[in-house]
Amino acid sequence: MQSHEWQNPEFLEKGREKAHAYFIPFVSEDGALKGKREKSEAFRLLNGVWDFRYFKAWYEVPEKITRWDKVAVPSNWQMTGYEEPCYTNVNYPHPVDPPYVPDENPCGVYRTFFDWKETEKEAYLVLEGVNSCFYLYVNGQEIGYSQVSHATSEFCLTPYLHLGSNELVVKVLKWCDGSYLEDQDFFRMSGIFRDVYLLTRPQRHVEDVEIHTTLDHLSVKVTAPEGKVCARLYDGSTCIAQKEIQEGTAEFTVPDAKTWNAENPNLYTLVLEGFGEYIPVPTGFCTIEVSDKGELLINGISVKLKGVNHHDTDPLKGHVMNYEDMKRDLVLMKQLNINTVRTSHYPPAPEFIRLCERLGIYVVDEADIEIHGFVSKDTGWGYKAYDRTWPTDHPAWRKAMLERGERMLERDKNSCSVIMWSLGNESGYGCHFDEMCRWIKNRDAKRLVHYERSNMINTPSMYDVESFMYMDVKNLERAGTKKEAKVRPLFLCEYAHAMGNGPGDLYDYQEIFERYPRLIGGCIWEWADHAVYRDGKYYYGGDFGELTHDHNFCVDGLVSPKRERKAGSLEAKAVFQPLKAEMTGDGIRLTNRNAFVNLDAYDFSWSVEVDGSETSCGRAELSLEPGESMLWELPAELPDSCCLGAYLTLRLALKEETSWAEAGYEIAMSQVKLPVEIRGKEREKEHGKYWEIRENDLQIEALYDGELRYTFHRIHGRLSGIWKKDQNLLLEEAHLDAWRAPTDNDRHIKTTWGLFEDNMSGWNLNRLFDKCYEFCWEKTEDGIVFTGKGSLSGVAREPFLHYEVRFTLTNGDPSLAVWVDVKVNPDAVWLPRFGFEFTLAPDMENLDYYGMGPGENYVDLCHYTRVSRYQSTVTEEYVPYIKPQEHGNHTHVKEFRVANEANRLTFKTGGEMECQASHFSKEELTEKKHNHELELANATHVRVDYKVSGIGSASCGPELIEKYRLDEKEFSYGFTVLGE
Ligand code: GAL
Ligand code: MG
Repeated sequence: MQSHEWQNPEFLEKGREKAHAYFIPFVSEDGALKGKREKSEAFRLLNGVWDFRYFKAWYEVPEKITRWDKVAVPSNWQMTGYEEPCYTNVNYPHPVDPPYVPDENPCGVYRTFFDWKETEKEAYLVLEGVNSCFYLYVNGQEIGYSQVSHATSEFCLTPYLHLGSNELVVKVLKWCDGSYLEDQDFFRMSGIFRDVYLLTRPQRHVEDVEIHTTLDHLSVKVTAPEGKVCARLYDGSTCIAQKEIQEGTAEFTVPDAKTWNAENPNLYTLVLEGFGEYIPVPTGFCTIEVSDKGELLINGISVKLKGVNHHDTDPLKGHVMNYEDMKRDLVLMKQLNINTVRTSHYPPAPEFIRLCERLGIYVVDEADIEIHGFVSKDTGWGYKAYDRTWPTDHPAWRKAMLERGERMLERDKNSCSVIMWSLGNESGYGCHFDEMCRWIKNRDAKRLVHYERSNMINTPSMYDVESFMYMDVKNLERAGTKKEAKVRPLFLCEYAHAMGNGPGDLYDYQEIFERYPRLIGGCIWEWADHAVYRDGKYYYGGDFGELTHDHNFCVDGLVSPKRERKAGSLEAKAVFQPLKAEMTGDGIRLTNRNAFVNLDAYDFSWSVEVDGSETSCGRAELSLEPGESMLWELPAELPDSCCLGAYLTLRLALKEETSWAEAGYEIAMSQVKLPVEIRGKEREKEHGKYWEIRENDLQIEALYDGELRYTFHRIHGRLSGIWKKDQNLLLEEAHLDAWRAPTDNDRHIKTTWGLFEDNMSGWNLNRLFDKCYEFCWEKTEDGIVFTGKGSLSGVAREPFLHYEVRFTLTNGDPSLAVWVDVKVNPDAVWLPRFGFEFTLAPDMENLDYYGMGPGENYVDLCHYTRVSRYQSTVTEEYVPYIKPQEHGNHTHVKEFRVANEANRLTFKTGGEMECQASHFSKEELTEKKHNHELELANATHVRVDYKVSGIGSASCGPELIEKYRLDEKEFSYGFTVLGE
């Protein structure tokens, strides 16, 4: 271990083999075809329990280590108790003083032993991922060095082995010069975190293989010493063609090849037989092109990328993901109609890509480069182009930058899944990127090249795609029609920041992607929340005493750390689904949004619900070619009118089992509102029952039939009680409010909404005053009307709105009608929400509602839900976002009932309202930093709202789309409430 080596950007390896395609040799053709590497006799997995010692600084590692701990390989030492985890996004966890890293650079020393019995064979040691760099020792001799955390490093061990037991020691340093190129936004983790294995190979063997396919042709190029190598092409277990490799190459023509694409991932296997080995290479026949219109053509067909960004992350293991973990992620993605993964921000384990080939997922393979922390090194903020002080341009870093592109490409070059190379992430721009781009394009003419920051430099660009992150829908739409001399596809390598409750607006993005040929889609940021799980609790940045950290900005996944789905995941599924259904002037229009698969591959079913009850349903054959639309006639009679609404639900389910879901799995669900007149049902009048008033200085009481009473606070102008005999169903006065516990996506607007650290710039909606200017009542012909006027203001601010409220009691009707007219201060910020809040007893637990459900939904996050009648409980409505926040809303509500064994409260509207019920107060949800800190409110809080603003994804993305903000300056709404 020489510190001048690992702090020298030009020193990148010692003794490492040249990068080549990922493959595992087998000793039988049968084994090769099955392709399970752990079954190969040539493959020996060295994962397991190794000896381990951790040293706080590299210089403390003694010549001879006498006492060893035990540790699992692979693992990260921040997750096995040797160091606390550290989460930082842009900032480096150390000074920016390249190529130097702190003197106190920890070192983890790993040791294992393995037996070697061969005399005629070679031993290759392969490490698929070690963070950040390592020295390798065999039987006490230093034989190698490598860096680049997410790249494969391979060493030939044979000269250093003896027969019998051999000692292998790997000394891993936490930091090296390479760490400057690995400033990805994640928990910083160290150690051997991916598989380690030994390959036993003949002395002469195939060194590399390169495959090129078109739709009906395959050419293979082999790097090998003199000798016979045969290539056999298999369709499943049937050999369909065989060729001898001549002068390193062979060509296959397969006129009727089944092509590979994400919807139909038809894979062949090319087996190379030579020198006693059988090397399987999964092969897909496919082409990647760009059309004149800038479309992405896969096999000549325009494809939209419905993607996510995937990081390796596990709440218990850190960056360690085994095969089952990777498969679980990819299967879940397929189930969510996701067809693309950008491997942010480094190449994944090679088996991840194999899984993508088998399951059918397009891969944007990204080089292990991020230099983000350079933007803040001088407290400024900004990317630099062609700046010599950045590794992107400094000559000393040229080789280091280039090899990251090269090692990725060489390893993954044969994959049909990989459709695009990405040169890295958030690293400014410099001449080394120019060179890498040229090198890659020269090396691989087939795949597209992307690097998001190439948008910093001028067009015409040599990059095949134009890419952006977090572009708003307006600019995206504008970009849809952008004219370039050569129209390039536009790709959003990141959009829809999925942090916390969200992302909203996915539907809006998808509609725009679908509308413009050159908009080829994008990748949601990001797949899974990053968090650390200990004692049943989740932790994030700042929980570990980091010197600098970014709080919960790592908790931003479409699925939880344990891969539970949330509203945002299901919304993605609904927005990416192959079926689009809409009610048009001409009738119900269905569109097949697949690129390759006819809708007849699915079971199609429909169901009509009138007022929440199914009135008819059926199945039908639906044949619709990809990209086509048709009008579909509903084979059912509709009533002349209904009370709440009539809706049609359409569903597609898999006809056959696939590698990622069972037959019958619902792949698409869409609801359309049917044109049936809604005639609200008048309540039947109870004859001979009248409202009477009793009043004193503070209270006005309206009595009905002895049993039921409503009381009003005279000064507050508020409903203070809904009484059944002597029991008040309200624990507090019902009151108007506009606050919601900010979501992560509200993290910017919340400082204008409310009062947090800065007490000058917000409307202080979280410090609310409700002022009643006047409140009175009068008898009318058929009952009693209470009217009030008032304002809502935040502390220290002028009113953000004025309201007039009217409570009406009608003789013969026990319910109370509520109506509010609102005028919002023209200068006020748009509101989180607006409506009434009712506080009920904690055991008011049972919910029954007619509205959108069953999951939580918001105006811009509701395509996975549908209108129906639902039963739920207040407890079940809670969504345990790791950082507590707004949740559990329902839109399109017409009836909302909250009940316990004895009592119930029913809210109804002739229009529509939004409702939510929770056992947590919004103050609690606003203030607490972790879900495990939340305390129950000993109450049931019910919101009966005019509207709730949408969710968006402004935690990192653009501001919420205007039409989803509650920004009306004048509005009215009403509902009835009945206590029983
Ligand atoms: C992007 C970046 C990602 C991640 C995200 C915020 O700018 O590329 O790595 O940091 O923002 O979650
Ligand atoms: Mg970054």
